[in-house]
Amino acid sequence: MRTQVAIIGAGPAGLLLGQLLQKHGIDNIILERHTGDYVLSRIRAGVIEQVAVDLLDEVGVGARMHREGLVHDGTQICVDGARHRIDFKALTGKTVMVYGQTEITKDLMDGRAAVGAPTIYDAQDVALHDFSAERPRVTYRVDGATHEIECDFIAGCDGSHGVARQSVPAGAILSYERVYPFGWLGLLSDTPPVSQELIYVRHPRGFALCSMRSPTRSRYYIQCSLAEDVEAWPDARFWDELKLRLDGEARACLVTGPAIEKSIAPLRSFVAEPMRFGRLLLAGDACHIVPPTGAKGLNLAASDVRYLALALAEHYHEKSAAGLEHYSARALARVWKAERFSWWMTTLLHALPGSAFDHKMQLAELDYLFGSHAAATAFAENYVGLPF
Ligand code: FAD
Ligand code: PHB
Repeated sequence: MRTQVAIIGAGPAGLLLGQLLQKHGIDNIILERHTGDYVLSRIRAGVIEQVAVDLLDEVGVGARMHREGLVHDGTQICVDGARHRIDFKALTGKTVMVYGQTEITKDLMDGRAAVGAPTIYDAQDVALHDFSAERPRVTYRVDGATHEIECDFIAGCDGSHGVARQSVPAGAILSYERVYPFGWLGLLSDTPPVSQELIYVRHPRGFALCSMRSPTRSRYYIQCSLAEDVEAWPDARFWDELKLRLDGEARACLVTGPAIEKSIAPLRSFVAEPMRFGRLLLAGDACHIVPPTGAKGLNLAASDVRYLALALAEHYHEKSAAGLEHYSARALARVWKAERFSWWMTTLLHALPGSAFDHKMQLAELDYLFGSHAAATAFAENYVGLPF
């Protein structure tokens, strides 16, 4: 088999890149380790920046998002029982879209099926070869048989535990990491959201987040210890703990119900540099992770593949290597801005094991955020997404 771009991973980065390349007339094949149903069962991101909304429109899969997604003009931040509002629309003229990653993935999968572009699910033992030379190859196994794809480029869109980044010689890559001493326990339920807007909660018992997927489906998170076992959290215990962290009004409005999904995610900041190694290009969680507090992970994956698709289109249609040469530096400039914002928001809102001084600094920083027009504007600009 031969294609122009072999894409590893059918998450948002791989699927969106595939659609953008189709639009530019560039052949591609996606290889995904899991089944399509498994990929769709992972409950993750919920907040989509305008940049990502525009990209989904550009590849023609935005219609359902505009019908079913919820446009949010602002967000609420609750500090020790007092609610504050950051008005994105008033401060930046922009809004965000609340629409689940699962739905985006489904829309992209449907878009890909509609144009007949190939995705090979259940591809085992994917291996990358010769990406520092002119003719890279990818091998994989399906039903015990080994297959090979010859290509011009390999796009590593296979998430943080993928094979692409691990295929790079150790001396060629630099990693930067911060592991936070806590995780998020998340619960999805078919109950109406507690508020029209997301509520980020800072509380001495720990962070909490009230989010949503639709007017009838809610997503809640509570900060938990890394040693926590999800089995130790029956629904009732989750709801009781969440209530303890909410303000009186939210507590009174909270509608509880059975969980349809419950899971624990550790929090981590991670960047691997550079994002290009010859004819291997990394994008999305394959080369950077942000803690979910700033809602930036999926949005960064989308902005990476925007740069990457433009670079590949320049290579094929204008015979220019400039886009590919600048891909890593351009994408990383945006990545580090999102890393900063996600780290800052995480440090601001979680109960930290640090000193009394650190605790006072959190309160002073929050006081500044709510008291200063400049600080609130900076927050809103980062949350809704910085321009390209
Ligand atoms: P992934 O979604 O991880 O996709 C990679 C794909 O590659 C997977 O399908 C995987 O099965 C496949 N793969 C892996 N290894 C191989 C292999 N060897 N061979 C073939 N295929 C392979 N982001 C936001 O923007 N907003 C939010 O509100 C938000 N909330 C979040 C909440 C939580 C609890 C979590 C955990 C994450 C959240 N994120 C959020 C982050 C977001 O989900 C990720 O950044 C996003 O999924 C990255 O997309 P990706 O395509 O790069 O990677
Ligand atoms: C979500 O709805 O899953 C969500 C929303 C905002 C975040 C993180 C996760 O910051």
